Amino acid sequence: MIYLDSNATTRVHPDVLAAMLPYLSDECYNPSSGYRAGRKVKAAVEAAREQVARLIGADAREIYFTGCGTEANNAVLYSLAGMCGENRRIVTSEIEHSAILRVCEHLAERGFVIDKVGVDAGGRLDLEAWDRAVNADGVAFATLMWANNETGIIQPVEEACGLARVAKVPFHTDAIQAVGKTVVNVDDVAVDFLSISGHKFHAPKGIGAVYVRSGLRFEPMLRGGGQESGFRSGTENVASIIGMGKAAEIMQEKLDADGHAGVGELRDYLESILMENLEGVEVNGAVEYRAANTLHLAFEHCEASGLLILLDEYGVACSAGSACMTGKQQPSHVQKAMGFSSERANSSLRMSLSIFTTKEEVEEAAKQIVRAVKKLRSVQGGGGVGPVVIYTE
Ligand SMILES: Cc1ncc(COP(=O)(O)O)c(C=O)c1O
Repeated sequence: MIYLDSNATTRVHPDVLAAMLPYLSDECYNPSSGYRAGRKVKAAVEAAREQVARLIGADAREIYFTGCGTEANNAVLYSLAGMCGENRRIVTSEIEHSAILRVCEHLAERGFVIDKVGVDAGGRLDLEAWDRAVNADGVAFATLMWANNETGIIQPVEEACGLARVAKVPFHTDAIQAVGKTVVNVDDVAVDFLSISGHKFHAPKGIGAVYVRSGLRFEPMLRGGGQESGFRSGTENVASIIGMGKAAEIMQEKLDADGHAGVGELRDYLESILMENLEGVEVNGAVEYRAANTLHLAFEHCEASGLLILLDEYGVACSAGSACMTGKQQPSHVQKAMGFSSERANSSLRMSLSIFTTKEEVEEAAKQIVRAVKKLRSVQGGGGVGPVVIYTE
């Protein structure tokens, strides 16, 4: 199978696996144990913290490991909500991941007012509306994703963070689709809190991290043995932490070497083959702001749900952005926010590459996508009944 769904998850890098294995066997000790073997494991965890910190330009003391990216987002938002005093407004965007939106909905049930700022047709945040939102009375905090998981569009985080700072509003970013794919540096963009997830950049699933700017208060979500400096109790997932550290080091080397340009070239190559061989293909999202690995295209007169079934049969895995609700395909909240017609949204496909994607794979995938689109267009004018299809986020 050709895997073009790296925004959903990525393969564990072989060097990451090799770094992890000892901690699943011989080095099985608890990092909190005081004897020498335990202290050695603790030192390895701290080295991994340094590696993760380095990837985002942070100090290791500002990094706390969590059980996944969703937990990282939850931990920050509930902490901020718990310490906001009289302030009851939360500013966010319409295109956030469910790991932000569902938390906001839950907080709304507890009396918070959620102000979701929109995006333009290219999928980028409306900064003027953001400015107004963060300057409203009683804002508790603001949260904006760095890169969108569906479209790959990189948000104006620096500007949005700057506006929040001027308004004296704490700022969090869900950088889960950005870290490892584009330069994310907490010195350049002075965010207060930032979420990371390992499985989006070749570490295993089930490991995440939160960056908390030094000096800021943080209320832990999990209390217990006081691991992670009390921020997140629970015996550490040592092997995965080591894996995330190694993956961070690998991605940093790659970003330093070419800024992910190699992946970007392959993505552009895929796009150009599809454009050359098919009529009625449109790019979704502002091309100049796309993460290098993501390609989001609308194939006119072609239902994405049907396309996915055919592509699965032809050996290509990717995602589509519509969910079947009460028998009708419904555009995702991101495509709705971008103002897409249902037709365009329901004919859109996300292809996401990784450092493991090869030129040969791109050529073969492009051939199969062209074949599937042509076949679908020749049958029922491109329609057809598909399964329930939704992005794997
Ligand atoms: C933007 C974004 N935020 C949060 C998450 C959740 O991360 P995790 O799968 O590690 O819980 C994902 C991935 O699914 C994502 O793409």
